[in-house]
Amino acid sequence: MKQYECMTKDSSIAAAVFVPFYAGFDIARYLWGYNISTRDAASLDLVDWLMKKPEWNVMGGRDHFLVAGRITWDFRRLTEEESDWGSKLLFLPAAKNMSMLVVESSPWNSNDFGIPYPTYFHPAKDADVFLWQDRMRSLERPWLFSFAGAPRPGDPMSIRGQLIDQCRSSSVCKLLECDLGESKCHSPSTVMKMFQSSLFCLQPQGDSYTRRSAFDSMLAGCIPVFFHPGSAYVQYTWHLPKNYTRYSVFIPEDDIRTRNASIEERLKSFHPDVVKNMREEVINLIPRVIYADPRSKLETLKDAFDVSIEAIINKVTKLRRDIIAGHEDKDFIEENSWKYSLLEDGQHTIGPHEWDPFFSKPKEKGGDSSSSSAEAAKNSWKSEQRGQN
Ligand SMILES: *[C@@H]1O[C@H](CO)[C@@H](O)[C@H](O)[C@H]1NC(C)=O
Ligand SMILES: *[C@@H]1O[C@H](CO)[C@@H](O)[C@H](O)[C@H]1NC(C)=O
Ligand SMILES: *[C@@H]1O[C@H](CO)[C@@H](O)[C@H](O)[C@H]1NC(C)=O
Repeated sequence: MKQYECMTKDSSIAAAVFVPFYAGFDIARYLWGYNISTRDAASLDLVDWLMKKPEWNVMGGRDHFLVAGRITWDFRRLTEEESDWGSKLLFLPAAKNMSMLVVESSPWNSNDFGIPYPTYFHPAKDADVFLWQDRMRSLERPWLFSFAGAPRPGDPMSIRGQLIDQCRSSSVCKLLECDLGESKCHSPSTVMKMFQSSLFCLQPQGDSYTRRSAFDSMLAGCIPVFFHPGSAYVQYTWHLPKNYTRYSVFIPEDDIRTRNASIEERLKSFHPDVVKNMREEVINLIPRVIYADPRSKLETLKDAFDVSIEAIINKVTKLRRDIIAGHEDKDFIEENSWKYSLLEDGQHTIGPHEWDPFFSKPKEKGGDSSSSSAEAAKNSWKSEQRGQN
């Protein structure tokens, strides 16, 4: 951010205000074994300080943004119960006005935005990217599909066990099982070599919707196969095409869970030319989903940083324009945030959506939107203890 060429210290001429608070690093210290007042302390200090600054009053903080390299559920504690997960940063009134960039956002909230997980590749110049893309185009890919991950035996809704069974019994699937303490899954070369030798890479949800592996697979030129729209399609709308069929395959979880659909058959049904087009799209997306070496800047390509900053500036600019014109959307329903994020340019209205069943929530006492998200949050620590997502 310090090297961003359009940075100014004069906030009165700034399109948006960056808040250099590292919410992810802060909460990571206290997620396990600390009481809620410790977990919330820095967040409360932050908003207290921010709201006293003259910049805040210009738009009530709605032109402010910050970044946290963690999933949103670590900052969405709903109650004051000690056993509840994470901090309540994103529920603080001030934070509701700001935009937080996170690697997994909430489909039902409008103050967070999904940005790609960092991968292993941080090129310093365009030429490094072009060389990498050419390599990914020309690789032999002997495996039809592959999966790197662990089952979730404690989660009756998880389809991972079925994916692993299908992979094991297929002669065209390569499996990298990530059991407790399994270090192969943390070895960049093992994971990347497998993805680089596969046409398709399975990306089921884990303890939360998203996985860093989806970006590893795209970096390897491996077409991601998603099973839940929350794993990418409603997350990374700044970075990935809204028309997901261009770069990925979608197999609804229920097809696996209840119908035991054959992944091998589904994937074999794509004509080789279609596969080639999808892979080309994935490879062309690589620059947008990687973070260049922060010590330099890509010359002509836009990386994930550039795309994110441009998007946040556009968002604030549009908001400012709407406020001045008195055009703020009065009918906006935050719970439908995921639907708004899918609208094409020029579209304004939302309605019933084929993905409604994926995002319907059991209505609970208290009525807040995040009962299932709180569940995801509670579970999220498990993946870290297992050491993978
Ligand atoms: C959030 O923004 C609204 C609308 O601009 C404003 O009325 C409100 O005071 C802001 N909240 C805080 C905590 O500043
Ligand atoms: C989405 O992309 C696919 C494949 O590229 C194409 O056939 C289809 O027409 C596109 N759909 C829309 C709505 O643009
Ligand atoms: C699901 O399909 C696989 C083959 O794709 C088969 O081996 C397995 O037995 C099936 N499971 C059930 C429960 O039908």
